[in-house]
Amino acid sequence: MKAFLSHLTTHPRLTRTALATSLLYLHLHRAYSHTSYAQHNPKLTLKQWYSHQTAYWDRQAASIDGVLGGYGVVHQRDVEGSRGFLEKLQVASDCKPMGTGRALDCGAGIGRVTKELLLQKFDTIDLIEPSKIQLDQAKRDFHNNTKVVTYYQMGLQDFKYEHSYDCIWVQWVLCYLTDDDMVRFLTESKGRLMEGGMIVVKENNSEERPVYDEDDNSVARTREAFERLFERAGLTIVGHEYQSGFPEELMRVSMWALK
Ligand SMILES: C[S@@+](CC[C@H](N)C(=O)[O-])C[C@H]1O[C@@H](n2cnc3c(N)ncnc32)[C@H](O)[C@@H]1O
Repeated sequence: MKAFLSHLTTHPRLTRTALATSLLYLHLHRAYSHTSYAQHNPKLTLKQWYSHQTAYWDRQAASIDGVLGGYGVVHQRDVEGSRGFLEKLQVASDCKPMGTGRALDCGAGIGRVTKELLLQKFDTIDLIEPSKIQLDQAKRDFHNNTKVVTYYQMGLQDFKYEHSYDCIWVQWVLCYLTDDDMVRFLTESKGRLMEGGMIVVKENNSEERPVYDEDDNSVARTREAFERLFERAGLTIVGHEYQSGFPEELMRVSMWALK
């Protein structure tokens, strides 16, 4: 699958030998230092920016390989990296450690993270996912599981909190939000953390500038760009690690713990 694969890669449309082509691509797609949707695709309204993403994900296979853009091979490593990071947050702390009550899986897709990680660590899990095709698969998988409680079929830009959480897990989804919507969502998320609770963000990092992908309307941001937006949302970074063990051609993936 072209879109997610390309925003996983270190540079749009691929290798170092294609650098010149890539620079031209960046120029054509206006992927400079801003990440407002209008900068990337001025022809779209904000509503179209988001509906294009959902339409894209409605066309993808509701499977591990599908949600990982054909890179199902990274699934195990990804889960191991996330588990190691989460376990540190649940024990080590000079204040109250993260509780094990309720977690929210944001941009959950088929519920891959819920199934492989959150279900083992929390009592109750809610999912947010705008694609009906992806979310229906999660509903089928978890229909007998009383720990998975609420399915919100919507984008993070429209989400209104009903509960508070010990962990708000945000993986490979902030690439779909505009800067302003990301800041608003993260600000509200901070206000919905239980004592000791944390937001975990796991996202691709581009190297120097945002990289826009027109296939699914995603923007890979640099680590620095993410951290500026976390600051705007009033969040403190309490942990950061890079995911290890992914194929070299993929973008670096950061995990942050925020509160
Ligand atoms: C690359 S998949 C990752 C799914 C899941 N987080 C995982 O790691 O397996 C991206 C997911 O984000 C969802 N998504 C796209 N735009 C979104 C938005 N604006 N708000 C919330 N989720 C969105 C897609 O429908 C898709 O399921």
